Amino acid sequence: AVGARAYHERVVDHYNNPRNVGSFDKSDPTVGTGLVGAPACGDVMKLQIKVDDNTGKIVDACFKTFGCGSAIASSSVATEWVKGKQMEEVLSIKNTEIAKHLSLPPVKLHCSMLAEDAIKAAVKDYEIKKAKLVASSEAVS
Ligand code: FES
Ligand code: FES
Repeated sequence: AVGARAYHERVVDHYNNPRNVGSFDKSDPTVGTGLVGAPACGDVMKLQIKVDDNTGKIVDACFKTFGCGSAIASSSVATEWVKGKQMEEVLSIKNTEIAKHLSLPPVKLHCSMLAEDAIKAAVKDYEIKKAKLVASSEAVS
């Protein structure tokens, strides 16, 4: 159970030392920005991904969350989980997996929901931007 304890400490560490706090330039065409709010409490989460245009792989991620500790820890885990994955892959990340990873109590489930929604919104934003770019380059040629 040494392993179990180490695991638990790592999870707790997301509360004390959130990973990947920051911002990317949202006008960068390789960046997708997901901005979501929780109606239940008014908390807001911004999660950004940086995507390799050629492979569709998420090469970097960051977040800024104005919310409770569980929302911040959920964002931190989310950024760790999306890095190095394909965009389609991260769309299947469920808030319940994040909640389980952090041992969130049921009343805090909506905090992890923010992270799931923010991932989806970031991917969508990237795809919309890319589609617009393709459309405008086709209009030019
Ligand atoms: Fe960091 Fe699992 S402890 S994502
Ligand atoms: Fe609202 Fe956690 S209490 S996101």
